[in-house]
Amino acid sequence: MTISKNLRDRLSDAESVCVLTGAGISAESGVPTFRGEQGLWKKFRPEELANVDAFMRNPDLVWEWYSYRRKVVSEVQPNPGHFAIVEMQNLIRDFTLVTQNVDNLHSRAGSRGVVELHGNITRNYCIRCRRPASEELVQKSDKVPVCSHCGGFIRPDVVWFGELLPPRAYEEAEDAAGRCDLFLCVGTSGVVYPAASLPQMAKEHGAFVLEINAEYTDLSPRVSETLIGKAGEILPLLVRVMKEERHHEQT
Ligand code: APR
Repeated sequence: MTISKNLRDRLSDAESVCVLTGAGISAESGVPTFRGEQGLWKKFRPEELANVDAFMRNPDLVWEWYSYRRKVVSEVQPNPGHFAIVEMQNLIRDFTLVTQNVDNLHSRAGSRGVVELHGNITRNYCIRCRRPASEELVQKSDKVPVCSHCGGFIRPDVVWFGELLPPRAYEEAEDAAGRCDLFLCVGTSGVVYPAASLPQMAKEHGAFVLEINAEYTDLSPRVSETLIGKAGEILPLLVRVMKEERHHEQT
């Protein structure tokens, strides 16, 4: 893959970088995406599984589904795409990683201060008193467990459709998008808001917005450049170029 002169210059000069990731970065680890051919929403109905009404209607079904997803995530490893982002964080003074993924793979790869817009599937809490649930309680429950303090149902700490994003996380993401000079959107179809508005926000603030995806998306007409391919192959290449260019600058 050829990296354009313009992109090389941006990789070389960037002082503030914001990266937004979606399910596509974890696809090469074996975590299903949502809207791909084998995507979760092709097999399951989000209205039956990923909203609070569905949970209150049939908590055991929703709990079972998240137990299945927790199992999938616990059996896979971060891939070269996740590790390249860790390396990029070590190269850039002002670096922010914003993810829509709930799979915890960025943190497992070593990324620091990950901004989790949609929560994290490895955490659970009581829907009534909001106390965090112990790992032990979560692991031993095939059916939805109840809170040992108030008896409320335990739910996954993820953002369901119709729910607000964690305010502090979204504020941090907006700030980073508003001040960065290089914005990468990696492996996201760009159809879920408000996350999908971040690339536009960065572009309006003068950032160079690079999209990395296996195919063109709704975002493609609105970014500065799109690289088509696998995140696990393109991100390590971009880090190599970044190191080369910055080394040239120093010598
Ligand atoms: N490398 C790069 N991109 C990839 C790869 C890969 N190896 N594999 C798939 N992709 C791309 C697909 O082409 C698609 O555009 O990743 C994107 C995944 O899109 P979605 O499945 O829609 O996932 P995402 O954008 O993260 O969904 C956003 O929707 O369902 C909700 O809360 C859920 O966080 C999720 C949100």
